[in-house]
Amino acid sequence: MLIRSERSEDRQAIAAIHTEAFGRPDKAALVAALRGLAEPTLSLVAEADSRVVGHILFTPVTIRSATSSSPALALAPLAVLSAHQGSGIGSDLVRSGLDACGCLSQSVVFVL
Ligand SMILES: CC(C)(COP(=O)(O)OP(=O)(O)OC[C@H]1O[C@@H](n2cnc3c(N)ncnc32)[C@H](O)[C@@H]1OP(=O)(O)O)[C@@H](O)C(=O)NCCC(=O)NCCS
Repeated sequence: MLIRSERSEDRQAIAAIHTEAFGRPDKAALVAALRGLAEPTLSLVAEADSRVVGHILFTPVTIRSATSSSPALALAPLAVLSAHQGSGIGSDLVRSGLDACGCLSQSVVFVL
């Protein structure tokens, strides 16, 4: 199993993963909408037997209070094809994603 950055040719497979794993199309639509709203900071896929079977997305957000605002990342969505669930791929995507966020000096990540 390989964790790597998303490539443009992965987009259809990513949409199919979210649709299948969640059992409805709204998370695939969310990924497309987030791509349109903000350049995702990090989009990773898990590849098994040369097939994309999992995906995780981190998108920039701003945390605002009455007196300050600071940058953070939102982790959402995360999905693994149901036939590949339960073998650690989701955990590997989260760990690899958080490691990469750290390398990008992003120290705050929200999970939706
Ligand atoms: C959630 C999901 C990504 C986990 O992927 P996975 O490859 O099966 O996860 P792993 O095999 O790495 O398991 C990680 C841990 O999460 C737990 N887990 C898996 N799915 C879970 C769920 N829906 N709720 C709570 N815990 C869950 C596992 O039991 C495991 O716990 P353990 O380490 O204590 O045994 C996958 O089940 C999935 O795509 N689900 C549908 C989409 C979804 O709900 N995404 C999350 C919200 S964005």
